Amino acid sequence: MALVTFTSPEYRDKTVYAVAGSHTQTVLKLALENKIPINFECEDGECGTCLVRVTSIDKKNQRMGGPLTEKEKTVLKEVGKVTAEELEKMIVDDLPCEWRLACQMIVRDEDIRVEY
Ligand code: FES
Repeated sequence: MALVTFTSPEYRDKTVYAVAGSHTQTVLKLALENKIPINFECEDGECGTCLVRVTSIDKKNQRMGGPLTEKEKTVLKEVGKVTAEELEKMIVDDLPCEWRLACQMIVRDEDIRVEY
């Protein structure tokens, strides 16, 4: 079980359980199932509307890498959240990206904070 805390300046924080390891549950799907008013449009990694900032709240473990999808790489570069050099470094060093698209990011077995 992973704990995902959704936080926004406009709404109260909400922490929900996620069934990690399903390999199909995205952050957006989890948010919608729990009535979290996260913005989205295409649900396909194209528009960038569902951009979120993800940080670890797991004190024991380091944040998992979790690869960015090709669509995320494209959108994150377009909106100026990452540079090509930063992307390269993340891939080489297997580092997690703090900016993700909620419709593309699969929930893994880690406790995270999602700012939307
Ligand atoms: Fe369009 Fe996620 S909803 S990129």
